[in-house]
Amino acid sequence: MSDIAKLELEGQVYELPVITGTEGEKAVDITQLRAKTGHITMDDGYGNTGSCQSKITFIDGEKGILQYRGIPIEELAEKSSFVEAAYLLINGHLPSRTELRRFSDMLTQNENLHEDMKYQFEGFPSNAHPMAILSAMINASSCFYPGLMVNRPNPARFEVHAARLLSQVRTIASFSYRKSHGLPIIYPKPSYKYTANFLHMMFSDVYQDYELKPEVVRALDLIFLLHADHEQNCSTATVRMVASSQANLFACAAAGVCALWGPLHGGANQAVIEMLEDIHRSGDDGSKFINAAKDKNSGKRLMGFGHRVYKNYDPRAKIIKKACDQLLSTLHISDPLLDIAKKLEEAALQDSYFVERKLYPNVDFYSGIIMRALNIPTEMFTVIFAIGRMPGWIANFKEIMDDPKSRIYRPRQVYMGATQNPFIPMDERK
Ligand code: ACO
Repeated sequence: MSDIAKLELEGQVYELPVITGTEGEKAVDITQLRAKTGHITMDDGYGNTGSCQSKITFIDGEKGILQYRGIPIEELAEKSSFVEAAYLLINGHLPSRTELRRFSDMLTQNENLHEDMKYQFEGFPSNAHPMAILSAMINASSCFYPGLMVNRPNPARFEVHAARLLSQVRTIASFSYRKSHGLPIIYPKPSYKYTANFLHMMFSDVYQDYELKPEVVRALDLIFLLHADHEQNCSTATVRMVASSQANLFACAAAGVCALWGPLHGGANQAVIEMLEDIHRSGDDGSKFINAAKDKNSGKRLMGFGHRVYKNYDPRAKIIKKACDQLLSTLHISDPLLDIAKKLEEAALQDSYFVERKLYPNVDFYSGIIMRALNIPTEMFTVIFAIGRMPGWIANFKEIMDDPKSRIYRPRQVYMGATQNPFIPMDERK
């Protein structure tokens, strides 16, 4: 197969190299296009643009495949844990027993926020959205560690920065929840593992520790693991964009949190539950809503459905749906929203509108129902996503920092605005 593409432009033929990825993906390398032809390419929303070469995560959206460092997500979901998957993503290989112990110890050693951070929390109004607090506090915490401001830390320092971020994001998230509910802050407990510790900081009270049920810890750990990376999505591409300017790791992660917040991205898990609650309140079984979601003038979409990359069932959605059924049955919870979600899914998968557009459930469709069963409030759903996504952001940041040839990200545009517009003095303006 040819590794050269030919482009005919204004009567001249140009040769462009073709790059082939390890999974057979092909890309026409246009890095020299403008220099050679004076043209740029146009790709609104970057649907066909490869912004980098990466070794972290592979997705085949047509076949519904997701792999972290080559390992299928289904295997990781069954056999691994969030912390182990985080190590894998960041370091590129599964940890040995000693490496995993060392990594876990580093997370524990870095779990406490600087004590003065408490005053930062006090400044937020009690109804502040926890995603706003999370992004602000991730950025603020870098102020307490001037060493973090180094843009290309050496490997030993990077390890500490990464552990601090991964560990503290969970402390910040739980503090923001406590703050928004007017509850006293619960400090992390070094004897607890990552996910158990988060549940402890969220739900223990001053007098009694939260009862850590293994199935609850496991369900939340699975949610974190399934969200840990997803190649060049909106938030990860944002992290890489900011990292390309050599901003510090915490600044890049704070930018990632902001990008994740929107309802078309990580905010969809909150939007799904709000949609299901609306349907339930209105007495609809989902059929009216499906029609509204197909009507472009209704302003509604079937949240938790569709994906830029997956044109097949999102493999994470399959795993989450199964885990959701198991958890609700173990905890003896009957949630009417789960019934509505299943009806919506069944109806959509048989409806030509969704079938023709290849719209399938994505990771957010069932994750909210699990989080409701864990008593996590709806406004915290996207925060949970952000905690889960942190290893992927850190791994992508590292990939940029480790590449001596990395350049600042700077897309171009096709200007369509006014030309030759004279300046009109104030008195003559309408
Ligand atoms: N409900 C109804 N129609 C939809 C939906 C949906 N959920 N998603 C896409 N469509 C329709 C669009 O209206 C469009 O129809 P048209 O071709 O007749 O104009 C077509 O399907 C293609 O949709 P686009 O918006 O062009 O697809 P894009 O790749 O830009 O968007 C996105 C992907 C944002 C995920 C979209 O499917 C969506 O809005 N889904 C709901 C929100 C959601 O669940 N987001 C979470 C994504 S996963 C994640 O970020 C973790």
